[in-house]
Amino acid sequence: MLITIEGIDGSGKSTLLARLRELLADLDPLFTREPGATWVGDSVRRAVAERMDPITEALLFCADHAAHIDTLIRPALDEGRLIISDRYADSRFAYQPVVLDGVIPDPLSWLLRIHEGWTIRPDRTFLLVLPIEDAVSRLGPEKKREYFESAAILSRVQENYLGLAAADPSRFVIVDALLPKEEVARFIADEIRAGALSSRRRPRA
Ligand code: TYD
Repeated sequence: MLITIEGIDGSGKSTLLARLRELLADLDPLFTREPGATWVGDSVRRAVAERMDPITEALLFCADHAAHIDTLIRPALDEGRLIISDRYADSRFAYQPVVLDGVIPDPLSWLLRIHEGWTIRPDRTFLLVLPIEDAVSRLGPEKKREYFESAAILSRVQENYLGLAAADPSRFVIVDALLPKEEVARFIADEIRAGALSSRRRPRA
């Protein structure tokens, strides 16, 4: 079963993931991430750091996804494992349309087409949502702000996420990231556990 965790920078994914590792340890999940589950992620980080052109950057994020699926996701699914990925394809569909705005027409359709035929759809996606001011203040003034972390950009990224969730309500679970961290972690862990148990009873087609 493939679970993905999504949300803008500052939504609390890192704390959540650390807690899920503890709460779900008995299920022996594979914890993974995008970008950077393979060495392709190094080129993605370099492209972002050096502000490469947005198409190069988008295609590198897609290449990172392809390598991630081939190296980790598909083999783990074939073994019947529970996989929990910190970011996945929806990060592309939420972030890159902002970066590609004005560069190509209808970036979201372009991105969806690039993924067609080889990506693997998550069984469930937990989307952490919070007011932009809270996300930005969580990032902290001292933290070196990456390009994606300016409030105006994050606000558009979150709108894109909410659009994706509205278009696919059976997959997405929207989570209020302002709730106490422990409550968020326990809710998500319980949902994952319930899904993992029912998918064990129902073999993958
Ligand atoms: P990362 O350093 O992994 O941060 P985080 O802890 O927030 O996941 O950051 C990756 C950055 O790249 C983050 O701002 C989101 C962005 N991103 C994209 O723009 N497109 C993508 O496809 C992915 C996976 C991430």
